Amino acid sequence: MKVQVILGSTRPGRVTEKVTKWVANSAAASGKAEIEIVDLADYSLSFLEEPISPQYNPDRKPAPETVKWLDKLAEADAYIFVSPEYNRALPAVLKNALDHVAFEMSDKPVTAVTHGSTGGAQAYATLKMILPALNAIVMPKNVYVQYGNLADISDDGELSAELKANPWGPQGPLDAALEQIFSYAEALKPLRG
Ligand SMILES: Cc1cc2nc3c(=O)[nH]c(=O)nc-3n(C[C@H](O)[C@H](O)[C@H](O)COP(=O)(O)O)c2cc1C
Repeated sequence: MKVQVILGSTRPGRVTEKVTKWVANSAAASGKAEIEIVDLADYSLSFLEEPISPQYNPDRKPAPETVKWLDKLAEADAYIFVSPEYNRALPAVLKNALDHVAFEMSDKPVTAVTHGSTGGAQAYATLKMILPALNAIVMPKNVYVQYGNLADISDDGELSAELKANPWGPQGPLDAALEQIFSYAEALKPLRG
């Protein structure tokens, strides 16, 4: 089973990078899936400038960089988006990347780990509105990382011992969300043939 952890911020000095590493490390530790970090900064996607909506264009000829992004997404059985909140929503770079998607995420489970002053609650709220349009299956469980906890995550994605031990910390919710998405990824495989 292949699970992609998608780094949803491309800003220099982005905090989301270490949050992504924590998510990927935790997912890999389960031993249940092959985990890959997919960094939007590695894809120079233009703003979507195709004449027809990707899902309604059987003759679609996407730009090479778009093909690279779509081919990468198509490899996975499930996705975990890691995203900050910008102006009470998901970052534009992530929304744009999703606007390029046609059917690559169809019938695949998706969850998210968001962060911000309210745990990125509105970033998640906006992301989960978009995903069904791509026929992705939004998981019941997601993870909010409170702003105050970010300092307790190292650049390598390790939680401090204190945060790890905190029963209200983010490790428990992440492990539960991972368990759930792995199960759904397995269960939904027959649907995708
Ligand atoms: C343009 C911009 C808008 C932001 N708006 C919000 C916001 O609405 N809510 C929030 O909790 N944090 C907001 N923040 C703070 C970010 O959550 C914080 O800077 C975080 O580190 C951004 O993630 P990044 O460093 O990976 O880009 C905003 C940051 C930026 C750059």
